[in-house]
Amino acid sequence: MNILITGGCGFIGSNFVRFLAHVRPAWKIVNYDKLTYAGNLENLADLAPGARYSFVRGDVCNRELVEHVLRAHEISAVVHLAAESHVDRSILDPHVFLSTNVLGTQVLLEAALRAQVSKFVQVSTDEVYGSLGETGAFTETSPLCPSSPYSASKAGADLLALSFYRTYGLPVSVTRCSNNYGRFQFPEKLIPLMIIQALGDQPLPVYGDGGNVRDWLHVEDHCEALLAVLERGRAGEIYNVGGEAERRNIDLVKQILAILGKPERLIKFVEDRPGHDRRYAIHAGKIGAELGWSPRRRLEEGLRETAGFYVDNPGWWRRVMSGEYRSYYESQVRGRLMGAGGSPT
Ligand code: NAD
Ligand code: DAU
Repeated sequence: MNILITGGCGFIGSNFVRFLAHVRPAWKIVNYDKLTYAGNLENLADLAPGARYSFVRGDVCNRELVEHVLRAHEISAVVHLAAESHVDRSILDPHVFLSTNVLGTQVLLEAALRAQVSKFVQVSTDEVYGSLGETGAFTETSPLCPSSPYSASKAGADLLALSFYRTYGLPVSVTRCSNNYGRFQFPEKLIPLMIIQALGDQPLPVYGDGGNVRDWLHVEDHCEALLAVLERGRAGEIYNVGGEAERRNIDLVKQILAILGKPERLIKFVEDRPGHDRRYAIHAGKIGAELGWSPRRRLEEGLRETAGFYVDNPGWWRRVMSGEYRSYYESQVRGRLMGAGGSPT
């Protein structure tokens, strides 16, 4: 198998490239990534480029280059992870989300069709379903009701990918997973941001009342799910992937503080995210029944291990935060904290 992984220098992508190189050593992996603020070659510093692994810097919107790479490397399957992935950024500036997430997906789908690949995995998100009330869980047939420009762009990309199956017979499978956590996550997302703020004894900005609920999936469990769908997922089908670990944000943040031995007084409730989805929960029965996948890692252990990664690798996250993210961080995190309301009850 010659496999193209897009977005392989990001958080999930770099974990997936490393995982695949380990469990499928005979495969040839091509990592195609634009290296935006979120892409970091250092995430894969332990993987030497060679006959089995190569990196190509490129934009998924670059039609010529995408087609050339698929042809030159005789690509037989695609796992499409490249995206603008951060909800808050999409609220500030939706344009690049539409361009990369929708148009970039269209470019890849067309190239994959021409190359007659045997599988195209579109990596999507539970956010396309919108928000849940106190009870219930998203199934693969839940209506799409995205709240942010990010989730709307992902919903658009999913529908486009499924249309390529129905119209042209491209063997597409879509995965929709919950919030990932683990090593190499960019420190704009909740868990690494809270860990890093706490390590510096800085305030932890919790949006709204902290009662929003997310389901947490260890990135290595997600990698196993992606491989199962890549190898055995049915074309034209959607698979939900969940972590069986629903937590209120405030409880998760308190748990992080407890792991790091830091006081809860660091928590600051700040202005809420506009259109903030209240609760996500995933029903992952289909991937369990059809492909035998279920999450194996427990959140408590996973959080400890993740906190340990950030404690042990300050050089990594300091370098990551020193670039473009620094100005985003200054305007967003500091801005929200300056208007902060109360402390936790
Ligand atoms: P990330 O932001 O950490 O990484 C995204 C990667 O895509 C980066 O390496 C970046 O350089 C690359 N990229 C961005 N624009 C590109 C472009 N135009 N051309 C080529 N490469 C480009 O994202 P992540 O958290 O690893 O998410 C990966 C995928 O999984 C995304 O599609 C996201 O929507 C989806 N997803 C993520 C989560 C999560 O919790 N992180 C949950 C559900 C779904
Ligand atoms: O559900 C899957 C999605 O999970 C993915 O599709 C997205 O790519 C990924 O970024 C993530 O989206 P969220 O918006 O849920 O993740 P984030 O880490 O930004 O926020 C998690 C929760 O924490 C959310 O309820 C908002 C809240 N939050 C976030 C930040 C950054 C805070 O309270 N304070 C913060 O500073």
